[in-house]
Amino acid sequence: MKNLTVGFFVAFITFVMGSPVAVAANAAAGKEKVKAVCAACHGQDGNSASAEFPKLAGQHEDYIVKSLKAYRSGERNAPVMMPMAKALTEEDIENVAAYFASQQSLVVYGYQRFR
Ligand code: HEC
Repeated sequence: MKNLTVGFFVAFITFVMGSPVAVAANAAAGKEKVKAVCAACHGQDGNSASAEFPKLAGQHEDYIVKSLKAYRSGERNAPVMMPMAKALTEEDIENVAAYFASQQSLVVYGYQRFR
């Protein structure tokens, strides 16, 4: 009975301390990557100024992750983005997605908002 209690305790601590910390995306690191690589096309805060490039500010984090993985695998075929995605590590993908998702989109109900 005592072993069972200890076992549950250890499992609980592992659950609390473990995975969430390990997989937590780092938006600050994502920002550095974006500044260095993605900003030229998507804008530093993800509000691309050109119709050639999609806006990523405020985009769902999971959607960005999914898109980057699809470019990387070739499932999504876009000559410009495929090499960009291939150069990213798994961690980079999580980080840039967290960063773009945390930015405020300047599009509100289809109108440009001014800052
Ligand atoms: C040279 C310009 C360029 C650079 C640099 C660039 N992208 Fe892109 N990105 C594009 C274009 C063009 C598309 C649209 C491709 C398509 O048709 O699917 C796109 C699409 C995307 C999409 C999918 C958006 C959607 O709505 O489906 C994501 C996510 C993305 N880029 C992330 C990034 C990230 C992260 C970086 C930096 C590591 C980056 N891009 C760098 C040009 C660029």
